Amino acid sequence: MILDATPDRLLFFDTTLRDGEQSPGCSMTQHEKLAMAHALEDLGVDILEAGFAISSEGDFAGIQAVAKEIRQPRITSLARAKREDIERAAAALEHAERSRIHIFLASSDIHLQYKLKMSREEALEQVAKSVRLARTYVDDVEFSPEDSTRTEIDFLCKMVQVAIEAGATTINMPDTVGYSVPNEYGAMFRTVRERVPGADKVIFSSHCHNDLGLAVANSLAAIDGGARQVECTINGIGERAGNAALEEIAAALIVRADQYPVEHGLKADQLFPASQQLAKVISFAPSPNKAVVGSNAFAHEAGIHQHGVLSNPLTYEIMTPASVGVPTNRMVLGKHSGRHALRSRLHDLGYQLAAPDLDAAYRAFTELADKKKAIYDQDLINLVAHHKRHEDL
Ligand code: KIV
Ligand code: ZN
Repeated sequence: MILDATPDRLLFFDTTLRDGEQSPGCSMTQHEKLAMAHALEDLGVDILEAGFAISSEGDFAGIQAVAKEIRQPRITSLARAKREDIERAAAALEHAERSRIHIFLASSDIHLQYKLKMSREEALEQVAKSVRLARTYVDDVEFSPEDSTRTEIDFLCKMVQVAIEAGATTINMPDTVGYSVPNEYGAMFRTVRERVPGADKVIFSSHCHNDLGLAVANSLAAIDGGARQVECTINGIGERAGNAALEEIAAALIVRADQYPVEHGLKADQLFPASQQLAKVISFAPSPNKAVVGSNAFAHEAGIHQHGVLSNPLTYEIMTPASVGVPTNRMVLGKHSGRHALRSRLHDLGYQLAAPDLDAAYRAFTELADKKKAIYDQDLINLVAHHKRHEDL
């Protein structure tokens, strides 16, 4: 359970345009980034990470365009803990209504030793210098100790303390390689918040990758541990197996509000439109069985389920499709379907069959369904017409 049972505000930090975009098949043009940024604004995200300003001229221009046009969310750019990155991020964000610079530096020994070739002391110095420099440009600075979950806890606390003392306002502790499990990730937030002086003055944030399929569960555990910002992406796109899926975190908070008494500013009926918008601008759609927004998320094929849902959707649906912006649920006719669903679909197609005719239609339908993966409306129309001609309907 959450530490404090009183409702309070959770910030949604969307990184579809940065961590999401840097994964295979997901790069976007400036025009596509802008279209996606509008969908994210309509959805009501609090912070929108528009890119990594120093990474390319195109990314710089993309962030600049988003910063000029998108007014509601706070716009941020990622920056390494380096002067040139921070200056580039600040320049890209110049026209934003509200901006943030997001600085990261690895904290785990494996990253310090093999990637950065830097001692712990040097890393702490660089964090302090970079955060102080960023604060000369903006009053909102996020710092992420990259690979937090594989960092020795005393050193993680030290790095977080240095960042807070230098002026960081948000501390994000990423599970960069998707290594953590929920108990451990939640506990890390509790420990750091308890141990680090000044921790009560900043917002803690989760950022989870999905290498073990635990990104959403870990994000929820972080909320339990006191995080009040979650970093996530639409459709869960992102490096390797992706980032925590925004729509899944949102749905869990809404459906299980009894477990997570936090408020947020999302308009849940914009979740599906945002997912669809993303699918238009990258090279793949979410998998059909993707929670909340996949094409099967509100589809029912099994006869027992269809009968239940036709009687009362709550039997097999824990949220209404409309609540997350999906136009309708779907009764898919296949070999597992029953008479109720067939009658209901035939009724929608304008056929009202008496009981014996429905029995005959159902027999013909199951024979056909055994041979086909999906039954379309035209199949049913043909089936009724055929049997009418042969007078067995
Ligand atoms: O996964 C990660 O550690 C990141 C940081 C840059 C926040 O994306
Ligand atoms: Zn990441």
